[in-house]
Formats: sequence, structure tokens, C-alpha cells
Amino acid sequence: MDSTPATSALARDVAKRRTFAIIAHPDAGKTTLTEKLLLFGGAIQMAGTVKAKKSGKFATSDWMAVEQERGISVASSVMQFSYGDCVFNLLDTPGHKDFSEDTYRVLTAVDAAIMVVDAAKGVEEQTIKLLEVCRLRDTPIITFINKLDREVREPLELLDEIESILKIHCAPVTWPIGMGKRFHGVYHLLHDEVLRFKAGEENASQAFESLQGLGDTRLRELFPLEADALLSEIELVRGAGASFQLDDFLRGKQTPVFFGSGVNNFGVREVLRALADWAPPPQPREAVERTVDPTEPKFTGFVFKIQANMDPQHRDRIAFFRVCSGRYSPGMKVRHRRTGKDMKIANAVVFMANERQRSDDAVAGDIIGIHNHGQLQIGDTLTEGEALQFKGIPYFAPELFSKPRLKDPLRAKQLNKGLLELGEEGAVQVFEPFADNTLLIGAVGPLQFEIVAHRLKSEYGVDAVFENAGIHTARWVTCTDAPHLAEFSKANSLRLAKDVDGNLVYLADTRVNLQLAQERWPKVAFHDTREHGQLLG
Ligand code: G4P
Repeated sequence: MDSTPATSALARDVAKRRTFAIIAHPDAGKTTLTEKLLLFGGAIQMAGTVKAKKSGKFATSDWMAVEQERGISVASSVMQFSYGDCVFNLLDTPGHKDFSEDTYRVLTAVDAAIMVVDAAKGVEEQTIKLLEVCRLRDTPIITFINKLDREVREPLELLDEIESILKIHCAPVTWPIGMGKRFHGVYHLLHDEVLRFKAGEENASQAFESLQGLGDTRLRELFPLEADALLSEIELVRGAGASFQLDDFLRGKQTPVFFGSGVNNFGVREVLRALADWAPPPQPREAVERTVDPTEPKFTGFVFKIQANMDPQHRDRIAFFRVCSGRYSPGMKVRHRRTGKDMKIANAVVFMANERQRSDDAVAGDIIGIHNHGQLQIGDTLTEGEALQFKGIPYFAPELFSKPRLKDPLRAKQLNKGLLELGEEGAVQVFEPFADNTLLIGAVGPLQFEIVAHRLKSEYGVDAVFENAGIHTARWVTCTDAPHLAEFSKANSLRLAKDVDGNLVYLADTRVNLQLAQERWPKVAFHDTREHGQLLG
């Protein structure tokens, strides 16, 4: 590639980007850590907003109203801040009752993730699920073990649990000295430095006092009760040979582990530095046709999330778009690969920490919000003309299923239209079971059903209630042996459905029955994800 001033400026800007998400089970401390990270970036106001959204004071029924009035969830969906030489894009992974397929999809648009573990609770259910999604792309993970200011579990036990449950090697970078009321700080294994913690000393610059080296004579004076344990634990940890290896981290095989207390802003700066120093800048991205390098001058990217109903009168939507190469400029004309049409991105927004701003510039790793009226769908690729389709933005097998029941049976047509459109948009997944003609909807979080019920009513005039469909999970099925597939389909017609793109789906009522089906039909492949826009053969 030629190196004009423009291309080298682009390469420089791309190299500064760190696009990441925080994965955590609810209450582990994701919101607190987000706030503290934003403080480092100087975005103090945002901290309040993050908290306001998280506080969950909004009843589901006013969720939409809140959404429209404040645009909070859009504003806090992506937070851009800078620290040192880096520009960070923090993509929110909606948790608590907002947990939905978006939570998973966001992870397809990041280059790294911070995993927050509550030191009292260890590895929890949602963390396991989210890490599985990160694993689809071997996303590098930095681990922050939080709440050391409380009485928590032994650090060695926590590392064992992470390794055995999440199947990722741990490389402790900091090690806690005591816990709870006797939490004195952390020892930094790479810097041979003790960072002292004193409750109530929180500040944005995090200028905690430090001691150099384990040999510092003050160690025993300061922590008479913990010094011996620290020395023997460090010896053990070093002896275990799990030293930090950048390559293993970048391949998603090893996670550097940091201990701290988010609420006290202790240990947070180390995590941010790890992101800046070790997490990868935007990487080349696979498209069906070829691999796209982030420093290519032509603009490309893909939609990974749709936020609807900013203005229901106009079916106004914001498509969250990750730039993969080139540079966005206002008003630029792009080709919409799926429809083959050209469109103009006139009014994209970039998500600067505390407000939505008009975006004037965005490069690979940045997220822009593109207003549209339904043209853009999840998984769509936009380019400056080249026919490209980015890969790696999957549908995830739903874990909750329900069947809509109409209060007014005469609205069946509107119900089907609404469900199919909402399915296309990615609000839920819609299936047509072979056994009957009622559409089945699938989600990964219960709020998705409530949103769909709300939108069916307000946008399609359909009053429906959702009933449990008695299904445990779904798998997309493929088989290269056509007669075998036909036999499978015949034997399982009551368990099969088509998705919106016509792909064959197996609906399992229990985990055991899914296993039995897999054992009984070994030539049939059962997939728990499927690419957007992909027709399974
Ligand atoms: P989440 O987004 O992952 O759900 O968690 P969030 O940050 O909201 O934290 C959940 C609770 O844990 C909050 O308490 C928060 O203050 C607390 N917390 C977070 N980090 C630490 C820490 O390092 N030490 C201790 N002791 N607590 C921590 P809450 O009572 O639910 O909310 P609040 O009233 O304190 O805001």
C-alpha cells in the first residue's frame, strides 16, 4: 500500500483504537468499573448516567418512554474516551433485565473484553455464556477480580475456578495482599511493586502509595499479618509458571488477572493500562470474499445492533455500525451490499462519553450510529462500492421460547407481519414450526418478549400475550447427505421449524432430548449459531 500522508495518518489513528466490552454477571461490578474507567478518560458526567440507567428504577412498562425521552440507552451503548495515547471505545453489554441477543452481538464487534468476577462469588452463569461468545473469535480477555475490600474467596481458589470452568489459563499480574478489612493492596508481579490500598483514598488519578519490591523492609512493618502469606503465595504463583505471555493473551488462550476494588477505584488503572499496552488495535476482519485490513483507505464496516423506536412515528432506527477500514466522513455515499443500493450516511452519530454528537470522523474500531428507517439490518455490510459481506455476526440459539396468543383473533395477519419485521430487525428470532401455523418466537432474555409485545401494540395495533412454548433450546441443522436429512426431517417433523431465512431448525424440549437426537442422528450437524444472511446448505 502506498504511504501518502493520508494513509499514514489513518494507520496512526487505527493503532490508537482499543474497542472493548466488559463482561460480567449482574452485580459483579460492571457499572462501577465502567464509571471508574470513564473517570480516567475525564468523562465524569457520564458516570452518573451509567448509574441512572443501571439502577433499574424504570418499570418495564415505561421502558420505551424512558428510552425515547432520554435516549439513555443509546448514549450509553457506546462510550468513547481517551486516556494516554489511546482512544477507547467501550461497548455496553446490556445485563440484568436488559440481557438480550444484543448482549451477545456486541461481543462480535469488539477486539478485547474485560471480564469482571466478584471475588466472593467466583465464576457465575452469565459470565460463562458471555465468555463462550468471546471464544467464537478468540477475543483476548483481561480479568478483573473485584471486591477485595470484602471478605471474599481465596485468590488461588478463584484462579482454579476460572481455569477449570472457563477453560482459559490465568496469568496473575497483580496479587492481593489480604482482603476485607485487612485488604492492603496488590503486589504487581511484572513491576515488582506493592501498590498500597487505603480505604477512602479514591481519586481519579489513583495516586496510591507504592513500595518497590518484595524485599522492601517496610513490607513486614506495614503488613505484619499478611507479609508471610504474600511471600509464599507469590512463590507458589511464580513456581506454577503461569507468567504473562502476550501471544497467548492475543490468541485468547491466557488471561492476565488483576485484583482490586472497583468501587474504591483500586486496581482499575492497571486494567486500563493493560488494555492500552496489550489489547490489540482493530484487527483485519474476515469477509466472505477476502480479509479486510483496518488501514485500507476505502471505508467498510458492518451493523451489529439496531436500536429501534427512537421516534415510533417514523420507524426511526439507529444502526450501530462498526467501522472496519477507511475513514467515515459526513455525507459519504456507500453501497449497501445486501440490497445492492447506494445510500448516503448524512447524519451519523459518534458516541462520545456523555452525549450523542455528530460524528465527523471515525476509523476502524470506532462505532457510528446511522439513522435509518428500516433499510439496515443486523449483519449488513456497507462499503464504498466493493461487494463484501463481513462474517462473524451470528444469530445465537435462543434460550427462551414463547407463542403469541392474540386477544383479537382477527389481527392474525398484522401479528405475523409484525413478528416477521421485528424478527428481521433482530429484536427476537421468529420460527415457523412445521407442526402448526402459529409463529414461535425465541429470545435469550425475557425483556425481549416484553419489548416485542409493546412494539406489536404500538406499531402494529396488535394486542398479544406470550405463552411459554415448552421448548428448551433450538439448533440449526444441516446435513450433507440429502436422503439422511429427509429421513431425519420425517422422523422429527413435530420438532422442526424454519427460521426467517428458511433454514431448518430443531426445537428441543429438554437438553437430554437434544443430546439423544444428536446421538441418534450422527450425520446431522446441530449448530448453536448461524451467520446473518447465511443460508445453511
Ligand atoms: P453490575 O453493573 O455488574 O451489575 O454491578 P455494579 O457495578 O452496579 O455493582 C453491584 C454492587 O456491587 C453495587 O452495590 C456496587 O456498589 C458494589 N460494588 C462494585 N464494586 C465493588 C467493590 O469493589 N467493593 C464493594 N464492596 N462493592 C462493590 P449496590 O449496593 O447494589 O449499589 P450501590 O448502592 O452501592 O450503588
